[in-house]
Amino acid sequence: MTIDDRDPNAYYQSKLGVEFYDLFTGDAHNNGPVKGDVAFYIECAREFGAPVLELATGTGRVLWQIAAAGFEIVGIDISDEMLALARAKASSESADTRSRVRLHRMDMTSFHLDQSFRLAIIPFRAFQHLTLPEQQRQALRCVHRSLIPGGHFVIDVFDPRLEHCVPGAPSPNPERRLKDSKTGHTVVRRVLERINDPVRQLVTETFRIEESDEGGVTLSSEESSWTLRWSTRQEMKYLFELTGFEVIAEYSDFFRAPPAYGKEQLWILRKV
Ligand SMILES: C[S@@+](CC[C@H](N)C(=O)[O-])C[C@H]1O[C@@H](n2cnc3c(N)ncnc32)[C@H](O)[C@@H]1O
Repeated sequence: MTIDDRDPNAYYQSKLGVEFYDLFTGDAHNNGPVKGDVAFYIECAREFGAPVLELATGTGRVLWQIAAAGFEIVGIDISDEMLALARAKASSESADTRSRVRLHRMDMTSFHLDQSFRLAIIPFRAFQHLTLPEQQRQALRCVHRSLIPGGHFVIDVFDPRLEHCVPGAPSPNPERRLKDSKTGHTVVRRVLERINDPVRQLVTETFRIEESDEGGVTLSSEESSWTLRWSTRQEMKYLFELTGFEVIAEYSDFFRAPPAYGKEQLWILRKV
């Protein structure tokens, strides 16, 4: 299989990738590169106002917390499987919180909504699943069209460590092993293959996810993959300029640390 035969989003349609998405991302949210991101997006909603639009909302990890904090929010995502998990979470929320949420299956490169937003967000590197520069521009133009004049846009992508992006470089995270507190089961995600294409700025990773019980018996196992496109800070700046956004602030984490190599690129932008 070549890199071009792979669906950049296969992971988000796979059974185990979706089922254990919150487990792996929750860990990244509490201990990893996006530590503090949910609280940060809630602060943004307080500062810039609602309604909020979340592109690539996934399982609603951020969306439900913004709604619970009192803000109206619309989430869109391309994956029926991720949206099904987001919808299932409604049953554990209050009627008030539920009334503030709407979810739609839409592609972030071509969506139209009959509403204008004060704030748009793209958390946790979801923008990087757009693997072509043209798709990136289309998504940013859709965001621009969806915002009120002077509306704000907050986006997080990783800042590439260049030694991880050259052909043959191994994965910086070859294995992650977590305990699912709901079942006591161990879930292991191993990188089977990493293909770096520095010309197109793409990284494709193939994973095997395995769930085993307390006795070590394998209960389920599945392969899937994703592709991410990385961009330097200056490339992102040009992209924002090209699509009608001005940079209000840029950080390297969710505690507002200044820009730094190899950490997050967290951008706060305003529609011009
Ligand atoms: C890393 S997850 C982020 C989910 C969520 N925002 C979070 O912070 O947990 C990436 C999400 O991007 C979605 N996605 C990828 N390409 C998309 C596209 N073209 N349009 C809409 N959603 C897309 C995937 O289905 C997946 O749910």
